[in-house]
Amino acid sequence: MRTQVAIIGAGPSGLLLGQLLHKAGIDNVILERQSGEYVLGRIRAGILEQVTVDLLREAGVGAGVDAAGTVHHSIELVFGGARHPIDVHGLTGGKVVTAYGQTELTRDLMQARQAAGLATVYEAANVSPLDFGGGKPRVSYQKDGATHTLECDFIAGCDGFHGVSRATVKDSITEYEKVYPFGWLGVLADVPPVSPHAIVYGNSERGFSLCSMRSLTRSRYYVQCPVDDRVEDWSDQRFWDELRLRLDKDLAERIVTGPSIEKSIAPLRSFVAEPMRFGRLFLAGDASHIVPPTGAKGLNLAASDVKYLCGAFIEFYRDNSSAGIDNYSQRCLRRVWKAERFSWWLTSLMHRFPDTEGFGQKLQEAELDYLVNSKAASTALAENYVGLPL
Ligand code: APR
Ligand code: PHB
Repeated sequence: MRTQVAIIGAGPSGLLLGQLLHKAGIDNVILERQSGEYVLGRIRAGILEQVTVDLLREAGVGAGVDAAGTVHHSIELVFGGARHPIDVHGLTGGKVVTAYGQTELTRDLMQARQAAGLATVYEAANVSPLDFGGGKPRVSYQKDGATHTLECDFIAGCDGFHGVSRATVKDSITEYEKVYPFGWLGVLADVPPVSPHAIVYGNSERGFSLCSMRSLTRSRYYVQCPVDDRVEDWSDQRFWDELRLRLDKDLAERIVTGPSIEKSIAPLRSFVAEPMRFGRLFLAGDASHIVPPTGAKGLNLAASDVKYLCGAFIEFYRDNSSAGIDNYSQRCLRRVWKAERFSWWLTSLMHRFPDTEGFGQKLQEAELDYLVNSKAASTALAENYVGLPL
């Protein structure tokens, strides 16, 4: 089999890249280790920057988010037992974020790919990028017991943090990493969101909390917890009680609770691998960088990588220029590091850190007070939250 771009991984990065390339007339095949249902079963943050929504529309997959996404003009910070709105729309000259589940987005992309008749090999085992240092890269894989080879011009490693692409070039990369001393316990429930117009980020002496949503009938809530806690130790009742204790009185009273339909604990990590290009192999999305979920930048960064990568391939095929390819890594990393900084900052501001004790908490209180009372500080938060320009 031969294609122009072999894409490894059918998460949001791989699927969106495939769709954008298809729109540009560039042939591509996706090789995915898991089944489609497995990919759809992963629950992740669902807040889209305006540039991400625009990109989905450009890729021809904006109908779902346009119909069912919820536009947020503001966020709310809860601390000291009170709520403080940040008018991100007003502070950024009219920019917003949109709540739309990553599961729904992945489904939209899968359906568009299927409708366009594009090749996706699910349950491909032992996927191996080969010979990407020269002019004739290829990817080998196994499917139903047989070994296959996909010849291509370029390989896009969109295979997430645990994928094979970055592992293949591990001797040529520099890794930067920070692991946080806590995790997030997340619950998805079919109950109306307590705050349908704003995402709520809470800092309390019991730890961080977050009230988010997937739709007007489906909510997503999180509480900071020890990373080695077991999900079995958190009954629904214990979760709802803990969440209430971390919010202001009004929100705590208004929360509608119900049985969880998903409950999981995720560790928090900041990670960047540099560079993002190795000859004709390119890393994009979680394969190259991870942000802690505070601020919901992971999917948005994946979208900007993929936009740059698609642009680079268009320049190569249409204009016979390798400028975009040569600049890819540097261009992505500039944006990546700004999102890394923002996600680390918001994480540091909103969580209880076991090791910083009183001094760290006093600094948090001072910074939160400054943040909600200084237009300059609120604006810095708002413009990062809605997404820095591409
Ligand atoms: N071979 C083929 N596919 C693989 C391999 C492999 N060796 N290893 C991993 N994959 C697949 C995974 O099964 C997964 O479907 O690559 C895909 C990677 O998807 P994500 O982990 O979602 O990464 P990405 O698409 O970059 O996601 C970007 O969306 O899912 C979120 O947290 C993620 O916010 C981030 C954003
Ligand atoms: C989510 O809806 O899952 C979500 C929202 C905002 C965040 C992180 C996660 O900062």
